[in-house]
Amino acid sequence: MFEIRNLSRHFGTKVAVDDVSFSIPEGQMVGVIGRSGAGKSTLLRMINRLADPTAGSIRYGDVEIVSLKGEALRRWRRDCAMIFQQFNLVPRLDVLTNVLLGRLNHRSTALSVMNLFSRDERIMAIAALERLGIEQTVLQAAGTLSGGQQQRVAIARALMQEPRVILADEPIASLDPLNAKVVMDALADINRRDGITVITNLHTLDTARAYCQRILGMAEGRVVFDGPPAELTAEVVRRIYGAEDDFDERMTSTSITPQWVPAPETVPGLAMQAAAAM
Ligand SMILES: Nc1ncnc2c1ncn2[C@@H]1O[C@H](COP(=O)(O)OP(=O)(O)OP(=O)(O)O)[C@@H](O)[C@H]1O
Ligand SMILES: [Mg+2]
Repeated sequence: MFEIRNLSRHFGTKVAVDDVSFSIPEGQMVGVIGRSGAGKSTLLRMINRLADPTAGSIRYGDVEIVSLKGEALRRWRRDCAMIFQQFNLVPRLDVLTNVLLGRLNHRSTALSVMNLFSRDERIMAIAALERLGIEQTVLQAAGTLSGGQQQRVAIARALMQEPRVILADEPIASLDPLNAKVVMDALADINRRDGITVITNLHTLDTARAYCQRILGMAEGRVVFDGPPAELTAEVVRRIYGAEDDFDERMTSTSITPQWVPAPETVPGLAMQAAAAM
């Protein structure tokens, strides 16, 4: 459970996030929408402390996230996986190694540097890739994959962290509609089946409507809407995106629809075989 109270972030005289308060129960899938510059990324980055708040509080359970330091902050970043628009993979490394990098916060630096991932971790990585339907890319350099495949590798890497929360900053903004759907279906499946809280910034309204049980609308650093998709009326949409008379919802649309069929079960036999071959 998140309790965010009076959270603000200033950059000089610019107020990126302005006195925002809301709570998120465990296991929700929340979409954050708003115009460019509304403060969506800054809000997400404060939650995993890539950005420090100017004021306010972020509590997760009974932990105050804003004051975490050192080892405790490292643990929080492990619990709270981040997915970016540009994937942030290491392009020259193979997919398996990229996914295993999600384990870094679970182990000591010395072991990480020596690149000693355990057999169990390799099996776990391949199972994550199978779950996302890209196990065939395991030995390929990450930079040679399509955008949709790269984002699925990034999600597999996030799963390796065994996170409690996934924060996704415009995860589909660089993808075509088909890949966007695959990636959103994967995030929704992880939210539903694993009970992991997902908070995702989205630049398309219809995607937020289709996938998120709750939507936060931001404008000029403030939360101007907080509710289920059914309450996102045309008037509310104008409040979020600005009051231009000619606002056309299609401008924020990628026309993708969710696929609620669960991902295929992973095949442990296959994972064991692949791990044995490495
Ligand atoms: N590091 C920074 N230094 C100065 N100003 C910043 C910084 N990061 C964000 N801002 C400003 O804060 C405001 C909110 O930015 P933010 O990136 O959070 O918006 P956003 O809603 O994610 O926008 P977009 O949809 O374009 O990603 C913007 O005016 C931005 O210019
Ligand atoms: Mg942003």
